[in-house]
Amino acid sequence: MQLRDVTRNYDGAARYYDRLTDIVFGRILKLEAYRGYAIDLLGDLDGATVLDVGCGTGRNFPLLIERIGERGKIIGVDYSEGMLEQARRRIRAEGWSNVELIHGDAARLDGVPGPVDAAIAIWCLGIVYDLEAALNRTVDLIRPGGSLSIMDFGKSRPDRGLLWWLFPLYGIALRRAGIDSAEDLDNAKLEAKWDRGKDVLRARLGTLNEEHYLHGAGVIIAGRANKMMYDPVRAFLVMIKGVDPTPNE
Ligand SMILES: C[S@@+](CC[C@H](N)C(=O)[O-])C[C@H]1O[C@@H](n2cnc3c(N)ncnc32)[C@H](O)[C@@H]1O
Repeated sequence: MQLRDVTRNYDGAARYYDRLTDIVFGRILKLEAYRGYAIDLLGDLDGATVLDVGCGTGRNFPLLIERIGERGKIIGVDYSEGMLEQARRRIRAEGWSNVELIHGDAARLDGVPGPVDAAIAIWCLGIVYDLEAALNRTVDLIRPGGSLSIMDFGKSRPDRGLLWWLFPLYGIALRRAGIDSAEDLDNAKLEAKWDRGKDVLRARLGTLNEEHYLHGAGVIIAGRANKMMYDPVRAFLVMIKGVDPTPNE
C-alpha cells in the first residue's frame, strides 16, 4: 500500500478499527489469540526497549507493557495520524508514561532511536509498499542478539476452510473498510513479496523460525539479530566491568 493510501485508508478506518478487529480477527477468525504468542517469541523483555512497527491503535501495547515492566520502553511507529491518535487515547486512558509514538514510514524508520532490544510487527509489513526496505531498516535498529517477531499474512487467501469460500466477500469487506488495497489482496504478489522478504531475513538474522496459522494464510516469523563479530572495545568493557554491557542476551 502506497503511503498516500495508508493516510487515506487508515485515517478513515481508525475510528472503527478496534471494534472491527475485535469482531472479525478476534471473535470470528480467532486470530487475536496469536498476538500474545508472537510477542512471547521475542523472549524475555524485562526492562527492554521494544519497537512496534505499524503499531496502529496500539493493540500490542497492553501485552508489551506487562512484559517490559517499569524499566522498559515501547516505541510505536505508524504512518497514519488517525491510527496514532487512537494509540494516544489508549496511552492516556491507561496512564502509561513509557510509550513513545513516532509518525513515520516503516520503510525508512527515520528518527527512531536505536538500538532496540526487540522489534515486533503485527499485520503491517505485508502491506508496506517496500517490504525489503522495511525489514532491513527494522533489523538495522535491533541490537546484536536482539529479537524480531512478525505476524502477518503471507497469502491473502487461505488454502482451505471457511475463509477460502468466503474470500471474495472478505476481500471486498477489507477493501471497503480501508484495511487492504486491491494490490495487498493479490495472492501471487503477496507470496512473491514475502519470498523476497524472507530472503532478506535469512541473510540478516542468525536464526529464523517460521510458523503458519489460518490454513496457511498467516505467517509468524521470529529470529534474532546476528551477534556482533569480535569487538575489542566491548571485550575491554567486559574485562574491566566483569559483565557483558549488552543486556538481555
Ligand atoms: C492492519 S493495521 C495493524 C495495526 C496493529 N499492528 C495491529 O496489530 O492492530 C496496519 C497498520 O500498518 C500501518 N502502515 C501501513 N503501511 C505503513 C508504512 N509504510 N509505514 C508505517 N505504517 C504503515 C497502517 O497505518 C496501520 O496502522
